[in-house]
Amino acid sequence: MTEPNTEQPAVRGPVALLTGVEKTYTMDSVSVPVIKGVDILVRPACFTVLLGPSGSGKTTLLNMFGCIDKPDKGEVIVADCKVAALSDDELSDFRAKNIGFIFQNFNLLPVLSAYENVEYPLLLAGKSAKARGERVPRLLEAVGLADLAKNLPGQLSGGQRQRVAIARALARKPKLVIADEPTANLDSVTGASILALMRHMVNRFEISFIFSSHDREVIKAADDTIFLKDGLVQNIKRKPLRSTP
Ligand SMILES: Nc1ncnc2c1ncn2[C@@H]1O[C@H](COP(=O)(O)OP(=O)(O)OP(=O)(O)O)[C@@H](O)[C@H]1O
Ligand SMILES: [Mg+2]
Repeated sequence: MTEPNTEQPAVRGPVALLTGVEKTYTMDSVSVPVIKGVDILVRPACFTVLLGPSGSGKTTLLNMFGCIDKPDKGEVIVADCKVAALSDDELSDFRAKNIGFIFQNFNLLPVLSAYENVEYPLLLAGKSAKARGERVPRLLEAVGLADLAKNLPGQLSGGQRQRVAIARALARKPKLVIADEPTANLDSVTGASILALMRHMVNRFEISFIFSSHDREVIKAADDTIFLKDGLVQNIKRKPLRSTP
């Protein structure tokens, strides 16, 4: 039985798919293959972790899921759209609408309050004051920051900044949220609380997260864990989803 989704329409197929993806970087006329033929499927309402040592290709693959980088070979599909078919303008609209990003260094605008940082993508999207006034407090409440809405990023702890970034990433109700080592700049207790919050958001908003880490502890929170090594998928572990009969 699928649980009712009150936040946004369910996506039926995979939320994102990489098939036969390859990427080579050339530096000083030396070509180095860094992604060597990778297939990854991100399931709906699923917390997916990319796990692998430094240089294994996590960021490169996340950039492809995020439509920031393109593969040399293979296909990227996000929210049922073949992204290679989009023009640059279409791609940037598509990205803003469908994909949320969370970064290691939070990437908040320092002159805007927590509230304004979360509101910013809604302003860019031309959402009405009424729609913003409903959505932003709800998101700040969801990340446990309702009382700190007026604080600037400089007046927040690292963990609180990352909570603002999570709320901002969810502002436009994306299908997919991409987080590249979002806990790397946090102490282990704060990192664990951010991980738990993301896990909670996957359940509450029925959204798909794809999250990279070096830390095997994150496997416990993941629905799907994709183990990478030297630009290849070494192994995939999938747990049954809550909504799977
Ligand atoms: N722009 C680039 N130009 C040349 N080589 C690159 C570029 N970006 C990444 N690489 C190389 O591609 C490989 C994969 O890098 P990637 O950043 O995806 O790894 P990662 O798993 O995210 O590592 P880390 O855990 O250190 O963040 C590395 O060998 C890296 O040096
Ligand atoms: Mg990386």
